[in-house]
Amino acid sequence: MTATLETFSKELEAVTTTAALRELRSKYTGKKGILTEQLKKLPALAPHERAAFGKQINDDKVYIEERLKEYEKQLISKEIKAKLSSAPLDITLPGCYKKPGGRHPVTIVLAEITDIFVSMGFTIEEGPEVESDYYNFEALNIPRNHPARDMQDTFYIETTDDGQSGDNSFVLRTHTSPVQIRVMQDRRPPLRFIAPGKVYRCDSDISHSPMFHQVEGLVVDRNISFSNLKGLLEGFLKKVFGPEVPVRLRPSFFPFTEPSAEVDMGCYFCKGSGCRVCKGTGWIEIMGAGMVDPRVFRNVGYDTDTYSGFAFGMGIERIASLKYGIDDIRLYYEGDLRFLRQF
Ligand code: DAH
Repeated sequence: MTATLETFSKELEAVTTTAALRELRSKYTGKKGILTEQLKKLPALAPHERAAFGKQINDDKVYIEERLKEYEKQLISKEIKAKLSSAPLDITLPGCYKKPGGRHPVTIVLAEITDIFVSMGFTIEEGPEVESDYYNFEALNIPRNHPARDMQDTFYIETTDDGQSGDNSFVLRTHTSPVQIRVMQDRRPPLRFIAPGKVYRCDSDISHSPMFHQVEGLVVDRNISFSNLKGLLEGFLKKVFGPEVPVRLRPSFFPFTEPSAEVDMGCYFCKGSGCRVCKGTGWIEIMGAGMVDPRVFRNVGYDTDTYSGFAFGMGIERIASLKYGIDDIRLYYEGDLRFLRQF
């Protein structure tokens, strides 16, 4: 037995793990291992010595590899046995799994509203959330100093260098009604669209959020009447809340519609007998609506002798709250998974 094999055998006896065995293997047969180093001496030998020297190294290598292989087998089965007899695997432990995500209630209700209007031939339009004073107020017949501006506590965006809101001031839109103006400026009647989106008001409590969602609607054509408005909105509400729901229109005021109406539906919770949600009246205010004011048509250059139209606007959170019985609007935006997982 060569000296190399003697040291190898001793070292092998000291090995107790497969990891240590791997190290030993590379120490002897690896690229920079002992046998490879020995082979490098070959060219320096006299030609007649080379064959025997080379054969010796090769025999050593075969021997080492065989012993390693055999010993490795023993170690592996020893290690498996040790693993199996130590702490058993508890296959009853719950696994780590990802709970599936879900749609936000506002998204669900918005999709439902959109589907209903699309099925009635409406298109969907959008407008910017940062809106000019002109589109948000002026063109909708809400001039400066008009008391109606107080109805919608506005977030103004300062646009001038001196920090003053200039004449061309911008706002976070307080409603989706400015989309009416933008679409009418771009297109001629007939028009039949809804415009869903985010709106902003300086307001925050149990029933008001500084950001919420509205859906605006506008229909303009020849011979559009108030009865068309009533029929459409009744049909819509019955699709959302069921065919039995009573709907009524109450006279109201909006600067951009004349006449204007508030649309009420029978209270979803008490079915009209009076409860906390409807404040005992049996009715719930669900949206604003009206015939487009001729001044608004004039602002976009529509001929008021030829065309008439109606508009409506509703809050999406409000509809979702009624559908799902949610009594605090802030729940929508707190991102609490216990709330969100219920839909
Ligand atoms: N823009 C109104 C608001 O935010 C809602 C509204 C009322 C929209 C009447 C309309 C309408 O289109 O005709 O309070």
